[in-house]
Amino acid sequence: MNYNTEILTADSSSIRKAAGLIKNGEVVGMPTETVYGLAANALDESAVAKIFIAKGRPQDNPLIVHISCMEMLDGLVTAVPETAVKCAERFWPGPLTMILPKTEKIPSATSAGLDTVGIRMPSNKTARALIDACGLPLAAPSANLSGSPSPTSALHVYDDMNGRIPCILDDGRCAVGVESTVISFEDDAVRLLRPGFISVSDLKEVTENVIVDKGVLDAVSQNAVVASPGMKYKHYSPNADVIIIDGSLDSFRKYVSENSGGNTWCMTFSESDLSGIDCPSVVYGSSDKEQARRIFDALRELDKNGADKVFARCPQKAGVGLAVYNRLLRAAGFQVIRL
Ligand code: TXA
Ligand code: MG
Repeated sequence: MNYNTEILTADSSSIRKAAGLIKNGEVVGMPTETVYGLAANALDESAVAKIFIAKGRPQDNPLIVHISCMEMLDGLVTAVPETAVKCAERFWPGPLTMILPKTEKIPSATSAGLDTVGIRMPSNKTARALIDACGLPLAAPSANLSGSPSPTSALHVYDDMNGRIPCILDDGRCAVGVESTVISFEDDAVRLLRPGFISVSDLKEVTENVIVDKGVLDAVSQNAVVASPGMKYKHYSPNADVIIIDGSLDSFRKYVSENSGGNTWCMTFSESDLSGIDCPSVVYGSSDKEQARRIFDALRELDKNGADKVFARCPQKAGVGLAVYNRLLRAAGFQVIRL
């Protein structure tokens, strides 16, 4: 693993080049509407092994397989429940991953030994063109080093993957900014394993019966048996000690003025949150969608600024805000101060 990593503007010739690399068993940085991914041939065990090495990812954490059309699903899964068909019609292409029973065609390296596989059809044009150019389903986890914030720009990918992969397709900033919603199916119910841009109320348009898994908002122990292995790993962690402050703007300001000092920073909704208070901050937006777009960049920026401690304003816990809160909780190691 000692590549001269190139950042290539995504166009037809760079997509062709990236597809050539993937067909040769290499791993490429791929933009999607959610976050950048590390893409390789999902059906090639040794290519998939390279993803795990590049990321430093635990072997028991399965990868999502990306397809560009429904025909590609044939042969990858043994059954598609009726609710899944409805979800595909309603939300694909888009930021939704569905856990389905896998066929032998998906190597166990991709599914981390599980008998299921996560499938997603991204909407980002470059991702779709790359899958089409390869003519293969692409396994792609987020393109960060394991444990660090997910990348929402080609430069984020470069910061983590320089030397580890041959190239990154640059398609600008990701439109959504947090990873896809992950769901599984039980009888009539949909179980939410990871919240994302497709919200609980969006899913309820397909079925009333949506269960939010306990792992979405609660810490899971390292030894626990979980519905989705990703739940138990430390995630999105900047070097700084992040603490979520859950309360009104007034109580946040009071808390910061009494407790900041040293190299303490804040993560705020807007510039004016801290007016008159002497504490540097990174703004991550005032609507849930804006916060989703900016949260990972904000966490990376705090590290670049050398923040030791970060007081973060708590996002709303509904809509896309549930996804933002879920990521921030992990970045904070579940430290929340309720005021
Ligand atoms: O938006 C996304 O989904 C991005 C882009 C690149 O598409 N990908 C992504 O992959 O976030 P990753 O590997 O960072 O996260 C995949 C999550 C993990 O938490 C993993 O445990 C879970 O999905 N997962 C994958 N396959 C699963 C399965 N068969 N059963 C349960 N959970 C699964
Ligand atoms: Mg990830």
